Amino acid sequence: MTNFHKAKKSAAVLKHEILDQYASPFASKTGLWSVDHRVAFIDGYAGPGRYDDGEEGSGAMLLRKAHESASWTSPRQVELHFVEKEAEFATRLRQVAAEEGMGVECTIDDGDISKHLPRLLKSAEGIPLFTYLDPCGLIIPLDEVASIFNRPGGKGAPATEVLINLTAHLRRFGGILTSDNPVEASLKRIDEVCGGDWWREAWLKKCPTKNASEDQKAAAEAAVVEGYAKRLRDRAGSAGTWIIDVRPRADLKPLYYLIFATRHADGLVTFGEAASLGLKAWRRYHAEIAAEGTLFADGSWEDAWKQQEATLDNQWVATLGDRITAELAEGEPFSILERADDVLGDLAGVVRGTHFRKAINKVRAEGKTATDPQGVRDLWNMKIMPA
Ligand SMILES: C[S@@+](CC[C@H](N)C(=O)[O-])C[C@H]1O[C@@H](n2cnc3c(N)ncnc32)[C@H](O)[C@@H]1O
Repeated sequence: MTNFHKAKKSAAVLKHEILDQYASPFASKTGLWSVDHRVAFIDGYAGPGRYDDGEEGSGAMLLRKAHESASWTSPRQVELHFVEKEAEFATRLRQVAAEEGMGVECTIDDGDISKHLPRLLKSAEGIPLFTYLDPCGLIIPLDEVASIFNRPGGKGAPATEVLINLTAHLRRFGGILTSDNPVEASLKRIDEVCGGDWWREAWLKKCPTKNASEDQKAAAEAAVVEGYAKRLRDRAGSAGTWIIDVRPRADLKPLYYLIFATRHADGLVTFGEAASLGLKAWRRYHAEIAAEGTLFADGSWEDAWKQQEATLDNQWVATLGDRITAELAEGEPFSILERADDVLGDLAGVVRGTHFRKAINKVRAEGKTATDPQGVRDLWNMKIMPA
């Protein structure tokens, strides 16, 4: 494989790892009480199903998930809806579905997701729905994304969740704002994507001139992504979101941002765990790739990777411990989910329950909390009490 293809693939590995980690718990949890245990997935920018080298794309993966969940002791009936604009990819996806989707309820539409989405949303009425929007360029307008949430929410309503790949293309368009001859038509296109022209001010506040530094551009991009997530939350009616910035390394700029939105606290918790495990698998993948053609290719890279992971774990536990201690100093009991911005901050999607447990134990050993996490499964919602 060429380096170019490896790099391209590496960018896709994370979103696939996360989807792989999350699809099953989503089907399992939301399909427990749904009509006939039905659960729907819409993959709006589906691609060919499998890559040229045979690796799973989202299509093959979701077909596999549908089979797996049908074979559980308490089975789920997963219904898949794919849309793909490129005729060639749609044909390949149909082949993948014909070979791997025996018995799975599955639709494949050629053309634009904008055109098909309203009908697909109708077909998923009354059952849990997970929509994956993974364009290679700009995503459909926010109005259309938000329309996914135009269905009942609240207690007892079937779950509604979306996972969006908001590509770093925003950066290129942001640059137009500060160019000598801004092309209004291009800016209008982003206005549509973002649900208004608010993003222009958000961008310029962080990145006022065309000579802005890389750091300023990254800050501008992050501000737009955060503004987007906030608008999606508002439009979805009290939804929660996670933003995961996907960087090849901590010191490099994001390749893309994943935004997850849900109206269920349980969805936030479960996705948070899945994202953390997906990131771990992604780091492992990079460590293996980096070792190719070196002395470590014999497998010794894995020990080095495990050591790096242990270092990261320790750093995160220390950071979480400090933040939990700071929150405890306010004197009120709280849960990590309630104070996610303050406690998780830049570690949202990175850390998971295992880190919370160690951090709370550390704070407890320092005498700052009376709360013992032993035996508690959901540490995201556990109340942490001041000592
Ligand atoms: C990043 S790829 C999808 C990868 C796939 N979801 C996966 O995870 O393996 C984006 C795909 O969306 C398709 N596409 C682009 N614009 C589209 C649109 N408006 N409606 C539907 N598909 C579109 C492209 O042809 C391309 O195959």
